Amino acid sequence: MARIIGGLGTTHVPAIGKAIAEHKENDPYWKPFFGGFDYVHEWLGREKPDVAVVFYNDHGLNFFLDKLPTFAVGAANEYRNEDEGWGLPVSKTAAGIPKLSWHLIERLVEDEFDITMCQDMLVDHAVTIPMALMWPGKAAWPVRIVPISINTVQHPLPSLARCLKLGRSIGRAIESYDEDLKVLVVGTGGLSHQLDGPRAGFINKEFDQLCMDELVRDPEALTRFTIPQFVELAGAQGVEFLNWMAMRGALTGKVTEAHRNYHIPISNTAAATVLLGNESRPRQQAGTAKVSRIPEDASAG
Ligand code: DHB
Ligand code: FE
Repeated sequence: MARIIGGLGTTHVPAIGKAIAEHKENDPYWKPFFGGFDYVHEWLGREKPDVAVVFYNDHGLNFFLDKLPTFAVGAANEYRNEDEGWGLPVSKTAAGIPKLSWHLIERLVEDEFDITMCQDMLVDHAVTIPMALMWPGKAAWPVRIVPISINTVQHPLPSLARCLKLGRSIGRAIESYDEDLKVLVVGTGGLSHQLDGPRAGFINKEFDQLCMDELVRDPEALTRFTIPQFVELAGAQGVEFLNWMAMRGALTGKVTEAHRNYHIPISNTAAATVLLGNESRPRQQAGTAKVSRIPEDASAG
């Protein structure tokens, strides 16, 4: 069976891609951020995930404001990047795993998530930057991916509770997938930032710390914030934290904080990297477990 080995939350600021292209990782501006990935590299080298399920938000490359799904799941053989206008080199293509994608899609629809399924999907910096941060200098990404896009761009946005539930549904679906795969779940974007308007440059360190703390120990507690309250506290683009909520929801076992790095600013953003371990609950022995189509805790999530 597939196993969720952990979760990673990381900022996806495009300027990170430019710094990588220009080999500036050790420059004084960049070192406090890139240095925060040393432990992540060690951990990934040890754990060797086969698949990354990536919760992210598309910024206008694959979806635009004319047609914008709340939740969209990739079911493609591969995911290309294209020039988004940030002046970054176009990223290498990520390989997909359509069989797993369709399994996740089936379980999500059973769980009453009305998602958009994408057999053709471009991925933007919100996928490619985290991939480059996790696996720097590789000729090809060492994992296959399932990209899951959450609308954090055009209001109305899904609530924090809804994204947590989406993650929980994905977590159960991964663990019912009948292949021995090690799966890493990723949530990209955030933390607090606002790119435009009178509050451009807004950052809220205290709120970011609270979000990271509660994400680990009690993510349900964060659902007390409405989207307008979250925008007020984290900035208009700080709502990218919805991707982190989904990531956290997918961690079905005992969650431990393995690593945290927080640095202000990277470009206009409070940059954060949080690695969570997921200790699986003991499973029933193979052959004795009856696979149920109705998740045990469907009523709760
Ligand atoms: C920045 C942050 C983002 O999340 C993004 O998508 C684009 C730019 C920034 O801080 O520059
Ligand atoms: Fe963004």
